[in-house]
Amino acid sequence: MSVLFQPVTVGGLRLRNRFVRSATQDYLGNPDGSVSDRQVALYRELAAGGVGLIVSGHVYVAHPLGRASVNQNAIHDDRFVDGIRRLAEAAHAEGAALVLQISHAGRQTPQDWPEGQVPVAPSAVREGGTGRSPRALTEEEIWSLIDAFAAAMGRARAAGCDGVQLHVAHGYLLSAFLSPYTNRRTDAWGGSLENRCRILREILARGRRAVGEAYPVLVKLNSTDGFPGENVLSQSDVTAAACLLAGWGVSAIEVSGGHREARGVMSRPKVLSPEQEAYFAEAARAVKAAAGVPVILVGGLRSRAVMERVVTDGSADLVALSRPLVCEPDLVNRLRAGQAKAACVSCNACFNPDGLRCWRLSVRIPPPGRLGPVIERYPGSHDETDGAEREAAAGTTAPVVTDEGTKGPT
Ligand SMILES: Cc1cc2nc3c(=O)[nH]c(=O)nc-3n(C[C@H](O)[C@H](O)[C@H](O)COP(=O)(O)O)c2cc1C
Ligand code: SF4
Repeated sequence: MSVLFQPVTVGGLRLRNRFVRSATQDYLGNPDGSVSDRQVALYRELAAGGVGLIVSGHVYVAHPLGRASVNQNAIHDDRFVDGIRRLAEAAHAEGAALVLQISHAGRQTPQDWPEGQVPVAPSAVREGGTGRSPRALTEEEIWSLIDAFAAAMGRARAAGCDGVQLHVAHGYLLSAFLSPYTNRRTDAWGGSLENRCRILREILARGRRAVGEAYPVLVKLNSTDGFPGENVLSQSDVTAAACLLAGWGVSAIEVSGGHREARGVMSRPKVLSPEQEAYFAEAARAVKAAAGVPVILVGGLRSRAVMERVVTDGSADLVALSRPLVCEPDLVNRLRAGQAKAACVSCNACFNPDGLRCWRLSVRIPPPGRLGPVIERYPGSHDETDGAEREAAAGTTAPVVTDEGTKGPT
């Protein structure tokens, strides 16, 4: 049996295989942040599709400034626990585990709300996407956010989640502390790498009091800011941060990259050949070699051969997929049945605040067990893309490429 389908243990958590659904904001929560019936159905479908571990879309820990997008799930209050429990039960019913990804939007709080409030961040560094400058957090506010993260960890456990994942990637608050580009503080929370990681150390210390020593705590870690410059996150920062996290008892590190204003770094468009796949593999290999904790690789994994290679060549222990499972929630079952690669063409049209859905769903994809996918023609009649994209799609068999974030932040 391929190594991909063999069980693996991460932080004491036994998983049926090495496939992870990487955190994917689905824009399907209720407007108040609670879990909707559609989300319960989605998580059940993903679990039935064969994935070993589902990481939830990022769930925000502090209201209102922690929220990153419409219909995002919340965990800033005990009233959200029952809904999250429904997600955990849906995953468990089909043999998958559920890890809750917790986050704070930081300087990437959307432009138009919350009304009259200024986003908060380590430092007042203008955000290119919104054109707005956040204000720097006070020391007292930092401690209050640490408590908010720790409380969210306790709620995840109370809801029956199998673990939590701190979102330290993609420009959100915790990764903004990590990067010297967004963290220009001169106090104990900025400057040296240890200071830029201090907020993580404190969250882990206080969070452990809420969840206990044995509870799986994962981190999704930025391996790059995604834009050039002198004062940006370096490879040595990343491996040193990974070593600190390992020393503080983190169970696994998922390696990603990019900020929202660094377009096309996190969810790279047009991943169409094996050479374009696994675009964070080198960073993952460095993290794995330095930190010695299980590493999850995300970013452009599309074909079974590449997924197998990154596990067998020591780049990663598990493989994580986001867009491919939007397109084919049962992709893991399909790969097991012999399908060679995902049908997703990395067009990024699924960044859709009206609700996560692959615009290619009307394309005929054969059932698992039959080799495929068969791409007949781009349909031009899906709901999610705008008119221009639909028109372009109707007349061509070439992929329609948009850039992440054009449909709204995640
Ligand atoms: C619609 C959408 C929503 C996403 N939401 C999140 C999120 O909530 N948290 C996160 O860490 N990454 C999020 N991501 C990034 C993915 O987890 C993943 O890192 C990235 O898309 C690259 O993997 P892929 O090539 O398998 O899609 C999202 C990606 C997409 C396409
Ligand atoms: S909309 Fe595009 S990127 Fe998203 S899942 Fe479908 S093919 Fe992949």
